[in-house]
Amino acid sequence: MAGQFDRQGPVPAQGELSTRSSGCASTVDPITLLLRVHKPSHCLQQDTTALDHGLLLGQAGRMNGAADLASVLSTFEEPWAPRTVALLNDYDVRVVKTKGEFTRHSHPDTDEFFLVLHGALTIRMDGGDVELGPGQVYVVPRGVPHQPVSIEGAEVLLIEPSATVNTGDTPSELTAERRVL
Ligand code: NI
Repeated sequence: MAGQFDRQGPVPAQGELSTRSSGCASTVDPITLLLRVHKPSHCLQQDTTALDHGLLLGQAGRMNGAADLASVLSTFEEPWAPRTVALLNDYDVRVVKTKGEFTRHSHPDTDEFFLVLHGALTIRMDGGDVELGPGQVYVVPRGVPHQPVSIEGAEVLLIEPSATVNTGDTPSELTAERRVL
């Protein structure tokens, strides 16, 4: 019998795998592909680090590579669900809408940068509350328990390592997936 298996002996399974592997970029969306073409890797699907450098992929609130924070913030209402709008080495620059009380938590491995864009945000901590208004910045030191509270609502810019989870060491129903625009 001269079937496929006989022609190629024990090798074809690997050959097929290789063929499929070389086509893996087809599962990457076109925008992602456009922004990754400078990467030397032949297999873009596996090149997860490409997302962690340079300009981001999104279209909302973005013109000529610049992120417009007001435009991004106008695309969603959900509180406590950060959107990553820029990358800075291994850090995310995120915007988030805050409303009500967030989960008290800490980040054992990192500080967390807050800049209030609009509204008012209180960061409750054991050592005393910090009240932030528009244009005001505070950095919560690593390991310090904090509970952001925003009764009236606020829009806040955060800078933190890309792997940082919003609820830190205290998962809750408000734990959010990383969303890169
Ligand atoms: Ni935090």
